[in-house]
Amino acid sequence: MNKPVLPNSVEARDIAYHLHSQTNPTLMEERGPLVVARGEGVRIYDEAGKSYIDAMAGLWCASLGFSNERLAAAAGRQYAQLGFYHTFFQRTMEGVATLAEKLVELTGMEGGKAYFATSGSEANETMVKLAWVYHTVRGRPTKRKVIARDRAFHGSTIAAASMCGLGFMHREFGLPLPGFLHTICPDPYRGMLEGEDEAAFVERLAAELEKLILREGPDSIAAFIAEPINAGGGIILPPKGYFARIQQVLKKYDILFLDDEIVCGFGRTGNWFGKETVDASPDMMALAKGLSSSYFPISAVVVAPAIYEAVKEFNKAGGNFGHGFTNSGHPVGVAVALEAIKIYEEMGIVEHVRTMGARLRGHFERIGAASPIVGQVRGAGLMLGIELVADKQSRAPLDPHLQAGPAFDQIAYENGLIARCMGDVLGFSPPLIVNEAEVDEIAGRCEASLKQLERKLGVA
Ligand SMILES: Cc1ncc(COP(=O)(O)O)c(C=O)c1O
Repeated sequence: MNKPVLPNSVEARDIAYHLHSQTNPTLMEERGPLVVARGEGVRIYDEAGKSYIDAMAGLWCASLGFSNERLAAAAGRQYAQLGFYHTFFQRTMEGVATLAEKLVELTGMEGGKAYFATSGSEANETMVKLAWVYHTVRGRPTKRKVIARDRAFHGSTIAAASMCGLGFMHREFGLPLPGFLHTICPDPYRGMLEGEDEAAFVERLAAELEKLILREGPDSIAAFIAEPINAGGGIILPPKGYFARIQQVLKKYDILFLDDEIVCGFGRTGNWFGKETVDASPDMMALAKGLSSSYFPISAVVVAPAIYEAVKEFNKAGGNFGHGFTNSGHPVGVAVALEAIKIYEEMGIVEHVRTMGARLRGHFERIGAASPIVGQVRGAGLMLGIELVADKQSRAPLDPHLQAGPAFDQIAYENGLIARCMGDVLGFSPPLIVNEAEVDEIAGRCEASLKQLERKLGVA
């Protein structure tokens, strides 16, 4: 990136032939791509051998870093034994049954079942279809609409993108689809009114949700979807008691709660699942990313027993459950996921994340206290955000034309640190294997980059 592109180089061929995800084509053509050549622990290396500490674990996903040999060996063993089989028409494999059992146990969805897919978007869309089946079986087929939240990210396929609450996911596509609604994002830093405390904020959020349900008609609403902590919208931890109160409203109107654990699951927030961090009790959970440390595209939905019973009832007359992906329960993905979970258990993932997360947060709080443009440090476990502001007291945002977040990303990148801005919130979600020295290194590079940004903005 930002260096001359030589003819016939990887960069040149990539520009010529590759249409990228979430990339501005003009910038891509001007600056060229970052060609990632290899990984080692929490670091990646470009073609020239420059190393970057990836404090985003790629896309919030490579929890075991970029070169885990046990995962490679698990995949290799499975490829040699059985490189593919499917799970349609009553087929299964030992690993599939073992992983399903493990996921039901880990998530605490007693008596539930695990369904497999290959991406987070597919998992979220599967939850929506299961919600429709559930209500139909119970004689309420009009319950179809789904409520998500502003600033949410739930994926890129059409229904998943409709559940996003981010304009850039809808703009070119004429989304959201009809029947996908949004309620207020529970962001205490930006959303609380003057004089309002957290408890009052929670009441207002619950009242707004109820108002939306009543306006649309409770008989038309199937489900509510949320991440325990909103990752892509800016690492937004809801106010205390939020989910308990929201779930009261959902129960009152017979609306299912779909928990998107795609980022928060598998230790990220300092618990096995984000639902524990925010005290939520979902009807279904979508898992991906950390499930396999993204060494294989595999995702899962874990459902409460009532959801399974509905699928069974729906197909009682002899029909199949008309849903599935060729690679649902792919044996290699399953083998990698089982090995990843084994490693998480052996390393005591929850304690490790809490310790490393507290250390990183401590650094960020010190850095934030000394910076004139850090308004808030927030998050849980190893999922932390730093919100930049023009005025710490009033929380006035920086002028959007300054593009402070992207400027930070660029400076950090030049300093060998990969972070990810979401507007003016700087996101950090490093591989969960990060150690003390690496945490200190992330903080050191962040501090140096922030100081450079302050000088650039003329506020140092
Ligand atoms: C919270 C959340 N849900 C869903 C998704 C979609 O996952 P995938 O890209 O695997 O479809 C993502 C991806 O970043 C995500 O962060």
